[in-house]
Amino acid sequence: MSQDNNKDPKENHDDIESHEYDGIREQNNPAPLWITLLFLVTIGFSLFYLIHYFGYPGNERDQANEYAKSVAEWDTKMAEINAANQGEMPALTVAQMVEEGKALYEKNACMACHGTGGEGNSIGPNLTDNFWINGCSIENVMDVISNGRPTKGMTPYKNMMQEEEIKYLAIYILNSLVGSTPANPKDPQGEACD
Ligand code: HEC
Repeated sequence: MSQDNNKDPKENHDDIESHEYDGIREQNNPAPLWITLLFLVTIGFSLFYLIHYFGYPGNERDQANEYAKSVAEWDTKMAEINAANQGEMPALTVAQMVEEGKALYEKNACMACHGTGGEGNSIGPNLTDNFWINGCSIENVMDVISNGRPTKGMTPYKNMMQEEEIKYLAIYILNSLVGSTPANPKDPQGEACD
């Protein structure tokens, strides 16, 4: 290589005395200070890391504990969010559901076949009397609105509204229409319900 190699090594480096064999001498070439320090720092860091993350009993920093901790944090957060949401949106009262149902009754043109006041007309039956062709439970009423009676001329609404809306309609019919006394009621059809 370069001629530098042939220079007397003693010029720059300490020989380690007695480390000579066949004219080959071992020399003391310490690594630069900065790299030695860096090396020591990595050792220090590894010790800190070992103790901190795998550590001593009770420090609870292993993965399972960290996971359990974040799940617990998330659960508390969700509980707060849910509590806050419930505060904003209280469950509807029956009166509110009746209101919703009334609006839906008008919006979906149920009156075309059942009359504005549910009195019935030449097409659909009276919804204010307590006589029912398909039963008077809320399930019966929801079923008729949802699936309709296509062969008898009642439209199925399940693809046009939410389950919740069908429930409001049924509640409106059972709690508000039934028992009311509209003008020109259609004659009862079906079975009396008790
Ligand atoms: C195109 C006409 C028509 C429309 C629109 C209509 N209905 Fe009907 N509905 C009928 C007919 C006809 C029946 C009778 C079905 C039968 O004989 O089983 C009926 C039956 C019902 C019954 C069961 C009555 C009973 O005695 O069992 C309910 C409840 C009802 N309709 C609610 C509604 C609601 C709520 C709407 C609006 C979302 C609506 N209907 C829209 C024609 C209609």
